[in-house]
Amino acid sequence: MTAVTGQQDLDRGDPNRGAGHRPWDERLARRTHALGGSEITAILSLAGASDVITFSGGFPEPATFQSGVLADIAARLIAEEPGVALQYSATEGLAGIREYVSGRLAAAEGRAPAAGELMITSGGIDCMELLAKSYVDPGDVVVVEAPTYLGGIMAFRGYEADVRGVPLDDAGMRVDVLADLLAGGLRPKIVYTIPDYQNPAGLSMSAERRRELADLARRYDFLILEDVAYRELGFGAAAPPSLWSLAPDVVLQAGTFSKIFSPGFRMGWAAGPAEIISRLIIAKQNSDQCAGALGQRMLEEYGRGGHLERQVAAARVLYERRARLTTDALAAHMPDGTTWTTPTGGFYVWLTCPGGVDTVALSAAARANKVAYVPGQPFYLEDAGAGANQIRLSYSRVADDLIDEGIRRIADVVKSAL
Ligand SMILES: Cc1ncc(COP(=O)(O)O)c(C=O)c1O
Repeated sequence: MTAVTGQQDLDRGDPNRGAGHRPWDERLARRTHALGGSEITAILSLAGASDVITFSGGFPEPATFQSGVLADIAARLIAEEPGVALQYSATEGLAGIREYVSGRLAAAEGRAPAAGELMITSGGIDCMELLAKSYVDPGDVVVVEAPTYLGGIMAFRGYEADVRGVPLDDAGMRVDVLADLLAGGLRPKIVYTIPDYQNPAGLSMSAERRRELADLARRYDFLILEDVAYRELGFGAAAPPSLWSLAPDVVLQAGTFSKIFSPGFRMGWAAGPAEIISRLIIAKQNSDQCAGALGQRMLEEYGRGGHLERQVAAARVLYERRARLTTDALAAHMPDGTTWTTPTGGFYVWLTCPGGVDTVALSAAARANKVAYVPGQPFYLEDAGAGANQIRLSYSRVADDLIDEGIRRIADVVKSAL
């Protein structure tokens, strides 16, 4: 008897029909075809590799996690408040944490969200996903910085947006380039920006450009999605005013506690026009329904106890030191013709190798040399060649005493390609 596969098995009622490969990929929804995703999976899969010096993921340093304090808070909440902490929460978040986050925003930004302008999200990516799900139709134009955070590109592509890139320079997104595109007829529904210590480039948007961008949003009627993932992790002078504080009528702010508290809790916020927040709440009802109540209560208790502010202050010192160790090591080891950004906050140094170096191809050699980085190319849209000789280095989770050695290994790999 000849072997039968696929539909024939089903037709014949073959008792072994569960066995063997089925072509699931052929059944994928069309909207998934534009999605990469393998890059983030690859970054996360390296997270546990212990013998590799890992400059790849944007992970906070675990030593910043106050596990003793958190264990006490968890034990108390579980014993004393199971009906809240172990229960579903309202989709917009529990009242206590919303009040706490609102107070933090008022203190930091000089503006508290009005009624209906704030919700709790499951991390920063949740806000992007909810926004894209609620507002992006196939073909809608979404503008992003080039390069930008991969998760942002994926959230918009996942809903078949026509994603366009606007370049960055030392003062952040080239708002003048965006203005030219708008004058030429481009009509984005959303402009996504990471104005503070950007991922991946480590650069920030100047105060002047923030005002210009807000003016353009009002004039051309688009929404600015302001991602403030690293805003609180500045090393020196305070960051310029947030876009949300400058223009709350046209800005949705996506915040996350992942980088300043712990990504394990998956906690973030969205602040913006009440009409938009109400739509994101509806979208969240049919995704994960609510952020976990235990995490919401723990974060609130931790924050109200003053622990979060202490954690952030200590983290800034730690990351500033690691940033300096990284740039010192780059200066010591990198071949002539290599340039990099000097971080003033956040997790990243953005490295540009001499022309012709292919950082995707080199990542295998880097792995063999027991060091990992993320090549620049996935942070761009498919502009031919963009990012080919660039590298994102995340120094946030590399132990101080391994930074020099790690950079030396990367330098050796880059030199081998010259
Ligand atoms: C710019 C930016 N936004 C959002 C996120 C996602 O944050 P979360 O883990 O809270 O979803 C990241 C994480 O790397 C990020 O770099």
